[in-house]
Amino acid sequence: MRTGEGIYHCIKVQQFSRDFLEEICDLADKIREIARTKAGTEYLSSTLNHKQAMLYFVQPSTRTFLSFYSACQILGIKCAEVRDPKTSSEVKGESEEDTVRTFSSYFDLIIMRHPQANFAEKIAGLLDRTERPVPVINAGSGKDQHPTQALLDVYTLRRSFHHRGGIDGKQIVFAGDLLRGRTVRSLAALLTRYQGVKQYFVAPPEFQIGQDILDFLDKQGVEYELTENFEAVIQGADAIYMTRLQDEWDSAENTRSVIDIERFSMRERHLQMLKADAVILHPLPRRLEIEVAIDSDPRAGYWRQVRNGMWARAALIAMTFCRKQNIYEYYLNNNL
Ligand code: NCD
Repeated sequence: MRTGEGIYHCIKVQQFSRDFLEEICDLADKIREIARTKAGTEYLSSTLNHKQAMLYFVQPSTRTFLSFYSACQILGIKCAEVRDPKTSSEVKGESEEDTVRTFSSYFDLIIMRHPQANFAEKIAGLLDRTERPVPVINAGSGKDQHPTQALLDVYTLRRSFHHRGGIDGKQIVFAGDLLRGRTVRSLAALLTRYQGVKQYFVAPPEFQIGQDILDFLDKQGVEYELTENFEAVIQGADAIYMTRLQDEWDSAENTRSVIDIERFSMRERHLQMLKADAVILHPLPRRLEIEVAIDSDPRAGYWRQVRNGMWARAALIAMTFCRKQNIYEYYLNNNL
């Protein structure tokens, strides 16, 4: 697992350094600026038009799938997809490992979402021992990790705090089902790369963030607080990261008997309690935890977050194939 330019597999956030995060955000900004003109989009789509990607998504997805698809299109990569294992030879009894190894015979990149926590890592290790060890990008693994969501979240936070000294020293509140929300687990771990960030985890004890993440924060000397009092912590927050109930891991009934989501929801009346320059984020999909009326408040950042995902993923893929230098050259040569 190399990092920096020529990052190979992208499996978990712990592999990203602060320098890597800065690089990826800078590159995402450059790609986005280049893409403003027709000539720029033509240049970008020539950078990797000799490559092909497999999108293997055996868990539901709208944004992650489409943003990876669009990111590939931006860079000229041709895509194929398997989203329903019932249409693959897995129904004939083929193991998932063999299925994915087959992809590596045809494609140059495998982007995968899977319900099993360590599946992407296992596949990356397996491919490394083959003659065609193509890069694997984890697009969400079980309840555990969602590293590219954390990248786009950091990218969104960096843009949001651009005129406020960046992410260092900010107060970030996470609310909702933090136990099974892989986006929160990944972002909480990734924020340890910034100085003086304080994290607040707002959830009932049954759905609090996993001890493994808290142990990681302790090890990194990061300050955090666990609470059930949403209103008390949102007032000082620079960012509030809302999440839905992850009841696909349970029964909806069971989940609702433990958590009253109303206590961990953002309502219009909360807006007046927030800092004027706070940002409200959500990985989406949302249910009722953010009232739709909030969408028109300038602090609602979740729709910007969706689009940022496409640029951040394009930057990650460009770095996977060592194209950062070429993209910078185009940027400078065209006086952008
Ligand atoms: C998240 C996921 O799949 O973990 N969605 C996404 O990728 N934006 C969050 C969720 O499903 O709640």
